[in-house]
Amino acid sequence: MCGIVGYIGKKRAVPILLEGMRKLEYRGYDSAGIAVRGADGNIAVVKACGKLANLEARVEQGAPLEGGCGVGHTRWATHGEPTEANAHPHRSMRGAVTVVHNGILENYREMREELRAKGYTFLSDTDTEVAADFLEDLLLQGLSPLRAISRFMHTARGSYALAILFEGHGTIFLARKDSPLVVGKGEGEMFIASDVPAFLSRTKEFYCMGNMQMAEVSAEGAAFYDAEGVPASCERILETGDGAAAEKEGFEHFMIKEIGEEPRAVENTLHAYLKDGKPDFSEIGLTGEFLRADEVVAVACGSAYHAAVVFQYVAEKLARVPVRTELASEFRYRDPILKKNTLVVAVSQSGETADTLAALREAKARGAKTVAVVNVRGSSAAREADFPLYTCAGPEIAVATTKAYGAQLAAGYLLALGMAHAWGRLSDSELSRYTEELLALPAKMESVLSRAEEVRTFAKAHASVRDVFMIGRGIDYAVCLEGALKLKEVAYVHTEAYAAGELKHGAISLIENGVLVVGVLTQSGVAAKTRSNLEETKARGGKAVTVSFAEEGEEGGFLLPPVEELFAASLSVLPLQLFAYYVGVERGLDTDKPRNLAKSVTVE
Ligand code: AGP
Repeated sequence: MCGIVGYIGKKRAVPILLEGMRKLEYRGYDSAGIAVRGADGNIAVVKACGKLANLEARVEQGAPLEGGCGVGHTRWATHGEPTEANAHPHRSMRGAVTVVHNGILENYREMREELRAKGYTFLSDTDTEVAADFLEDLLLQGLSPLRAISRFMHTARGSYALAILFEGHGTIFLARKDSPLVVGKGEGEMFIASDVPAFLSRTKEFYCMGNMQMAEVSAEGAAFYDAEGVPASCERILETGDGAAAEKEGFEHFMIKEIGEEPRAVENTLHAYLKDGKPDFSEIGLTGEFLRADEVVAVACGSAYHAAVVFQYVAEKLARVPVRTELASEFRYRDPILKKNTLVVAVSQSGETADTLAALREAKARGAKTVAVVNVRGSSAAREADFPLYTCAGPEIAVATTKAYGAQLAAGYLLALGMAHAWGRLSDSELSRYTEELLALPAKMESVLSRAEEVRTFAKAHASVRDVFMIGRGIDYAVCLEGALKLKEVAYVHTEAYAAGELKHGAISLIENGVLVVGVLTQSGVAAKTRSNLEETKARGGKAVTVSFAEEGEEGGFLLPPVEELFAASLSVLPLQLFAYYVGVERGLDTDKPRNLAKSVTVE
């Protein structure tokens, strides 16, 4: 996934573009570039490999880029290595078109061959350069920019958010399909971005472009069209944030800041859907009729998938209906069987993950009602699902999710309680007890986080660990999935999450001196069994450590305050998130922007 920005107005574009790119760098950071239209109408392009700081230095050293109109791009490479030649913006062969792009053009090779036959040559390996030449070729045939874009939209397959500068045209043109693009409205200036945080400090009014829409943006405003060129409207959102979320505010990294914000993210999410002590989704139309599903299928990727696994355990326990969780990237291709009254729940922080969107669309195509548990308002998943259930974690900047995951857990608890209540599985007093336990969660999370130093000390002592297992049963196993991903993502430590009872069926052969085994033990019915599995690993040289509730004579490990076991994941994940962060810091790694990753994977 990449980050796109654009600016058109009376101010100098360069500092505004760079400011927006800094806020979007989490979307991709292997190269970056800007294109600025000067007062003479000429378009200057500056690009640099590596992190955004390299581009900033290049801009600083180069000829001053004046002009109040430009576009910028931070890249997460899809086609072609992260080199300067492959960095965006890309220009057409004659320089008539300059493009930045987020997405993948699946038929760019065919398009490139047709252009080659017309004499076009290419400087990069990217699909984006093909788009620039395709548009230029249409201009040469006498089409206007909008007609050329429309033809492109009817030819290209795949996903794209394009911001385009045409020579001789003083505006910025946009095109969107499956990759997000928002337009921010200022006073006599307009902002363009892949995501709201880029310019939240400059405006609160944004327009979320719909699929297969294009636009022409001037300093005075934006005109939106459908792919045929017919005027169209798009969703307007008024953001309330002050952009602070996109600032570190004194923290060393966004990740540790956002771990600290997790209790508030949970609290805000709970209060959004608890009315008079009961889960209430009527505001989004998700009433008892839909909550009484015969079957629930949760689809997601990565950490969102791990949150969905916790939801599965909790919802089956409370609502007593079949709930399964599927990797969205598998669900979309396996011709899934859905019952007549299946409710599909897509979980996604960004609401733009390609696999999750595809799974959501697959579910809708098969007649299922769909819920999207999303953190970004106006995101594709929020707009395409029947019921957009927003987590209230606020903008999450660190690539490795923490507070949004915590908020997804909270949303899952509420959904599970709502289903149980709709099926009459819980008495009012039982429901009240559970909601009281939920409302007590943020304070208990704070108490766990107040002991972060214990985790930091342990992380320092184990920062050179090479192989880690995280084991548990039930909800504890689901938390191990997330803890293992965190340690892999931000500390690059090979970590395996294992159902504790499964370890002895093969993987225990990997246990030897130096292997760290983390046992998560919050589920009383199975904790003793997992303790036995930990003993089995210690007997083979493993170093075992636990995350558990205080027990008589309990030695070592990280002790959690008492909590309703069904909601224990919200507490037990915290030391695992902190452990990953502190090991990453100890190893001198950029925990906010880990290598090879991007905040939302909007490509397959
Ligand atoms: C989590 O730390 C990772 N960044 C990644 O696994 C992420 O959860 C996954 O890509 C899904 O993203 P989404 O929630 O935006 O759909």
